[in-house]
Amino acid sequence: MHTSLKQALQNGQTLLACNFYNLETLQGVLQAAAEMQRPIILQLTASSIEYMGLQTAVNMARTAIKEAGAQAWLHLDHAASPELVLRCLEAGFDSVMIDASDRPFEENLAVTQKVVAMARPFGALVEAELGYVAKLGQSTEKTGFTEPHEAAQFVEQSGVDLLAVAIGSAHGFYKQTPRLDIERLKAIRQATPAALVLHGSSGIPVEQIRAAINAGIQKINLATEIKNIFMQTLKKTLKTTDEIDLRKVFPAARQEVTQLVKNKMEALDL
Ligand code: 13P
Ligand code: ZN
Ligand code: NA
Repeated sequence: MHTSLKQALQNGQTLLACNFYNLETLQGVLQAAAEMQRPIILQLTASSIEYMGLQTAVNMARTAIKEAGAQAWLHLDHAASPELVLRCLEAGFDSVMIDASDRPFEENLAVTQKVVAMARPFGALVEAELGYVAKLGQSTEKTGFTEPHEAAQFVEQSGVDLLAVAIGSAHGFYKQTPRLDIERLKAIRQATPAALVLHGSSGIPVEQIRAAINAGIQKINLATEIKNIFMQTLKKTLKTTDEIDLRKVFPAARQEVTQLVKNKMEALDL
């Protein structure tokens, strides 16, 4: 039976949300979900959509989900514009993220309201972000943690289903071990009914992610570690072989993606 993402979140389920970049990373992630018999979110960024083509990526994901026998939803990660959101809604995404977190509160709110209205007829959920979660290459020194009272106002006035919070995580790997502000997270949890999202999970020690889950995080975004294990494994394989049959070269990398995601699911009890 297919549960909606909304239902899963309302049931209090915490979900791992894994980015994919090609067929192999897609299958690697889905194999983990199938073996663990755990539901999962698959995510695409604008650059992955551009790389694969929207219809190719969506059709491939839908077919791969069925073939793997996994329960998975398809999510648009970090959309910068309502135009991309609309294309993805029309392509049947289960949820979409509009990310205007780099704009002032009122502008972020206005574009998010627009996307919520846009998504409603499609029955898709909407995620937005409030506060500064450093993107790849951006300064991790700068902070702009989510304020609980602003989160409350933002969720109430925008009607978003999911809210990405800035509590000390950043995209990509970390130079220094991050320290998540769990007390702030608890206060945000108290202040708003939206499902809370942790971005930048790659490189965060498992105990801290567990603490974040206990304090109310329901969606855990994982990207860089997937890319990294795939490419590191691929490079290692290529160093030891002259094989030109790519179907013999990719499986080891795909398998390591599966192992990574299984390990995360196990360690985080997802
Ligand atoms: P990482 O690349 O740090 O895992 O962050 C992923 C993410 O937040 C995707 O939205
Ligand atoms: Zn993110
Ligand atoms: Na990270």
